[in-house]
Amino acid sequence: MELIKKVREAKEYINRIDNSEIDIAIILGTGLGSLGEEIKNKKVIKYTQIPHFPTSTVLGHSGELIIGDLMGKRILAMNGRFHYYEGYNMQNITFPIRVINDLGIKKLIVSNAAGGMNERFNQGDLMIITDHINLMGDNPLIGNNYEEFGPRFPDMSNAYNKELINLAKDCADNLNIKVKEGIYIAVSGPTYETPAELRMLRKIGGDAVGMSTIPEVIIANHMKMKILGISCITDMAIADNLEPLDHAKVVEIANKSKDKFVDLVKEIVFEMKSN
Ligand code: HPA
Repeated sequence: MELIKKVREAKEYINRIDNSEIDIAIILGTGLGSLGEEIKNKKVIKYTQIPHFPTSTVLGHSGELIIGDLMGKRILAMNGRFHYYEGYNMQNITFPIRVINDLGIKKLIVSNAAGGMNERFNQGDLMIITDHINLMGDNPLIGNNYEEFGPRFPDMSNAYNKELINLAKDCADNLNIKVKEGIYIAVSGPTYETPAELRMLRKIGGDAVGMSTIPEVIIANHMKMKILGISCITDMAIADNLEPLDHAKVVEIANKSKDKFVDLVKEIVFEMKSN
C-alpha cells in the first residue's frame, strides 16, 4: 500500500477516537514519560491499535498516543518511540510523524536522553538542541520521494526553529532552570560509544550524543513542521574519564531530572502560540 494511504488510515483511526484540533505534538523521550500523567481530558490510544503503526519494545518505553489538554493547549503526546537499533527501518520509525502532520499538527517537541560531550555540561542538565549531525548511517528519506509530503532535497538550514529555541530559553529563565544549548549527534547504537569514538564526535562539533530523534526531525522538516528539541544529559560522555555506562543508569539520572524537564516543557507549551 502507498505511504499516503497508510498515513490516511492511521489518521482516520485516530480521528474516530478524538477529532479535536491539536496544537502541539510531543515525543516523550526517556525522562519525560511522566508528562503523560499531567494531560487532562485525555484519550489514550495504544500503538498496537493504530493501523500501520510499528510497536515499541525497548525497556522503559510503553507505546501509546495520549491526546488531551495541557496548560491550555490541546496536545498529542507519543509515549514511547521507535529506535533504529530495535531493527525497524527509518520509514517505520518516522511513520508516526507523517500521521501527526496529517492530523494538522505543525509544531513538534522532541525529547531524548543523551550523553554529554561538552566539558561545560553536567549530569542532569537539559540541553536545547540548536542543530544536529546525522551519523546514524541512514536517512528516512532515502528511496522514493513523496512529493505530497515534501521535496526530494529538503532544506535543513533551520532544522530546529529559532523562535522556539528562544521561547524555550525564555521559559527556562522564567522558571530559574539553567539550560544548555548545543549540537546533538545521533549514532545508530545500541552500543554506547568507545573513548575513541567520543573523541571524534566531540572534535567534529557534537555537544551531546544519542541514538534517536534525528530521523523524526528529518521527516518533520520534510513536511515543514516547526521543531523544538531538548536533550536530558544523563551521563558525561567524555573520552578521558569515561565511566562504564548501562541503560539503568541512564534511566536513573533521567528520572532525577524529570521534574525540571516536565516543568520546562509545560511552560513552553503554555507560552507557545496555538497556530
Ligand atoms: N551515548 C549514546 N546514547 C545515549 C547516551 C550516551 O552516552 N546516554 C543516553 N543515551
